[in-house]
Amino acid sequence: MKGKRILSGIQPSGKVHLGNYFGAMKHHIALQDNNRALYFIADYHALTTVQDASVLHNNILDVAKDYLAIGLDPAKTIFFKQSDIPQIFELTWILTTLTPMGLLERCHSYKDKIARGLTPNHGLFAYPVLMAADILAYDAEIVPVGKDQKQHIEVTRDIATKFNLTYRETLVIPNEYTIDNYALVPGIDGQKMSKSYGNTIELFEDEKVLRKKVMRIKTDSTPVEEPKDPSTCSVFALYSLFASEDEKNMMKQRYLEGGMSYKEAKDALFEKIQAEFEPFREKRSALENDISYIKDVLRDGAVRAREIAQNTLDRVRNAVGVSF
Ligand code: ADP
Ligand code: TRP
Repeated sequence: MKGKRILSGIQPSGKVHLGNYFGAMKHHIALQDNNRALYFIADYHALTTVQDASVLHNNILDVAKDYLAIGLDPAKTIFFKQSDIPQIFELTWILTTLTPMGLLERCHSYKDKIARGLTPNHGLFAYPVLMAADILAYDAEIVPVGKDQKQHIEVTRDIATKFNLTYRETLVIPNEYTIDNYALVPGIDGQKMSKSYGNTIELFEDEKVLRKKVMRIKTDSTPVEEPKDPSTCSVFALYSLFASEDEKNMMKQRYLEGGMSYKEAKDALFEKIQAEFEPFREKRSALENDISYIKDVLRDGAVRAREIAQNTLDRVRNAVGVSF
């Protein structure tokens, strides 16, 4: 069998954006060739924040379309929906009984959401345990996620280690996140780009909307002729994600020497975004109305994912003593 068992998930809590793409999805596509990869749509995680059925339904389809459009290949990768794998929820319960409250209380993503005014439900608090079950159910060795998810992988490792010590060696301890050379992708307000913060640039934006959003990216008020600091500028940070080393250095130079307007930098960024997604547009529009293909892909993925998860659950049930 080839390569490592790779697993990652993305929440259908809104439209997929550049943060998801550079922080996760682009790497997922690259990793599918020489590994055994599983990628899934974390719809039950999204229920902690999205409670409008038709919104959730459409988000799920959109995430699937975007993933398939940018190159996820169902012949190489198991692609499925979290809610189609009931084994995950049984495993979640078992793991909750080994999870100290303090471990969850320390999670940044929970604390950040509360700081932003979200009224927390128990699901939001218990979110990392469900994520641990997602990872441990498939014996994942590597979990490629963006920086903001690092702590959740650590929580998963803690819970799995505790399980193995309390019972017996049963669960595979996943490796830390691997996409650690990426800074967090900033949103148009300069904060972390996130579906829940309304500051995103989506992958397949309409041209006009894209231009508007790029022009709205927050910058400081340094006058055109004066030098500007690329290291604190979101336009530069976003441009760097698309640019070659040479292009990046040239842009940096132009910031530092002054004489370039932010408008000019934004124009260059706009062109880059358009060019990056151009090759995928045709596929994306073909998928737009091919819902039955998407359903088939997800159904087939779920069958394969359930088999792996059931295997792990059998081991876990044996280890905790409930199997006869
Ligand atoms: P969101 O914060 O928009 O809800 P998710 O939590 O669903 O996004 O994240 C899906 C994946 O995309 C995760 O691996 C996450 O680390 C990555 N990701 C999300 N936002 C960013 C960002 N701004 N920069 C880098 N990676 C990100
Ligand atoms: N919590 C992840 C996020 O918001 C999504 C996710 C759920 C996930 N389960 C996972 C990622 C398992 C990797 C592995 O980005």
